[in-house]
Amino acid sequence: MVETQVLLSSLVIFLLVCISSARPPHIVLLVADDLGWNDVGWRNPQMYTPNLDKLATSGVILNSSYVQPVCSPTRNCLMTGYYPYHTGLQHGVVQDDAPGFLPANFTVLPQKLKELGYVTHMVGKWHLGYCNWKYTPTYRGFDSFMGYYNGAEDYYTHNVGTGYDFRFNKDVYHPTEGEYSAQTFATRAIDILNSVNPQNDSLFLYLAFQSVHAPLEVPERFEKIYAHIKDKDRRLYCGMVSALDEAVGNITAVLRQRGFMDNLLLVFTTDNGGPTYLGANNLPLRGAKTTLWEGGTKGSAFVYSDTLLNQTKYLNTEIMHAVDWFPTLLHVAGGTADPGIDGKDMWPTISDNKPSARTEFIYNIDELDHSAAIRVGDYKLIEGSPGKYNDWYPLPKVEEDLRLDESDKYQVDDSSAELKYRLFLITEDPTEHFDIAEKYPVIVESLKQRLAEYKKSLVPANYPPPDPKSNPKYYNGTWSPGWC
Ligand SMILES: *[C@@H]1O[C@H](CO)[C@@H](O)[C@H](O)[C@H]1NC(C)=O
Ligand SMILES: *[C@@H]1O[C@H](CO)[C@@H](O)[C@H](O)[C@H]1NC(C)=O
Ligand SMILES: *[C@@H]1O[C@H](CO)[C@@H](O)[C@H](O)[C@H]1NC(C)=O
Ligand SMILES: *[C@@H]1O[C@H](CO)[C@@H](O)[C@H](O)[C@H]1NC(C)=O
Ligand SMILES: *[C@@H]1O[C@H](CO)[C@@H](O)[C@H](O)[C@H]1NC(C)=O
Ligand SMILES: *[C@@H]1O[C@H](CO)[C@@H](O)[C@H](O)[C@H]1NC(C)=O
Repeated sequence: MVETQVLLSSLVIFLLVCISSARPPHIVLLVADDLGWNDVGWRNPQMYTPNLDKLATSGVILNSSYVQPVCSPTRNCLMTGYYPYHTGLQHGVVQDDAPGFLPANFTVLPQKLKELGYVTHMVGKWHLGYCNWKYTPTYRGFDSFMGYYNGAEDYYTHNVGTGYDFRFNKDVYHPTEGEYSAQTFATRAIDILNSVNPQNDSLFLYLAFQSVHAPLEVPERFEKIYAHIKDKDRRLYCGMVSALDEAVGNITAVLRQRGFMDNLLLVFTTDNGGPTYLGANNLPLRGAKTTLWEGGTKGSAFVYSDTLLNQTKYLNTEIMHAVDWFPTLLHVAGGTADPGIDGKDMWPTISDNKPSARTEFIYNIDELDHSAAIRVGDYKLIEGSPGKYNDWYPLPKVEEDLRLDESDKYQVDDSSAELKYRLFLITEDPTEHFDIAEKYPVIVESLKQRLAEYKKSLVPANYPPPDPKSNPKYYNGTWSPGWC
């Protein structure tokens, strides 16, 4: 009896010690750029991505994880938990030479995690505005930043347009110029891992790779893996995906060696669907990056953890949206998001395969393009033009004009006088072959009304024209803050 009591009380003490010494888990958020639905090895045997495949298949593959059609809006979701139509970022991407930004009054994820005691580091692409220092990563909760502010640039020279865009914290940084960025970013991530004591600190690492956005550039050894692919764009693109995979493998090896894996959640997601016009592939999905079709918005994503997930090695089909990472990661960190955000906590869904807290979401509302889309239950309604790319692209097409940011721009829908509505029973028809709008006008009407409810809180898009003051010639040849 006494022995049992002693045993019990020592068990209680042991548990208390465990709880009090339990640190918030390390969080590693890996974002790939322009990675298509069919561009990952766990789905397409053409792809050589052994590191990503291993993580995905031993973690949880997210089969209904939605993102925005282009870069900046998705990054906005990840950082704030708000849809872009609530922050003014719903119309395309932040342009190099225009004063677009994520407004400074939105509290971003690293700021919240810092309040919970995290050390916070960012590596890679920002693309949420830089015309004033207050919009840049080290002013928004990141202890350090290595990477670039704009949407696309040369992988080696870091030049875009007439300027250079690469920094370490606030400083223009040249030492890694000439090295392929997947390697530079992996090396920087590893330096960060070596600077953190995994038993003592909780780390938030946001690594937003340049890979695999245009321009199509990759060291030859990766292109060689795909020597059998005739189409040059596709061959280069696939090589870029493998370079990304190797970078992730190098980082996870160090995470393991250094003891981070005992208490870590790794999230991997693309920012949008693949640009089929630049080597990517989204089959069997319809459409591409920049469109409201599933090919533009259904993201390749998974989570991995050695210790934190109750269920692993399964395909999760519950719907979630990029805005959900904000409250989900805060939950994992032991915090809570402010009420009123768009995101919902998906941790029970991801960790235990419980039904999603989400039964509907907004794909986007772009009042300048007169286009929008909404998912409610099993249905998807598209209002206006879904975008420029409407097919099921078998092989990547090559466009003549590869000027980088062109691919990020929306086409304005001229037929806005009378908006067209398309309805899909998306759970039965995930490839959007059968528009059933004419057959089910009552369902169309009910989704239109739901969409109208959401539109009431729309913040007008902030999509300013280019400002000549942005010109790198005023900043020693670099894209720099200071002109808004
Ligand atoms: C930020 O400011 C805008 C414009 O004043 C406002 O509409 C929005 O609600 C604010 N958002 C937050 C999270 O404070
Ligand atoms: C991965 O690590 C190996 C071994 O250090 C190195 O040769 C390779 O360049 C690294 N790759 C990347 C993409 O960082
Ligand atoms: C652990 O963290 C505390 C507070 O941040 C710091 O003072 C201490 O030096 C750290 N210990 C080690 C071993 O890193
Ligand atoms: C995971 O399992 C534990 C123990 O069975 C349970 O207490 C916890 O609620 C589960 N987590 C989630 C997210 O459901
Ligand atoms: C996963 O998503 C794809 C693409 O939308 C779909 O075709 C497939 O049926 C889904 N898998 C499951 C098990 O729901
Ligand atoms: C201007 O940029 C060049 C490299 O392009 C650098 O060597 C030089 O130090 C910079 N000058 C200033 C004042 O920052």
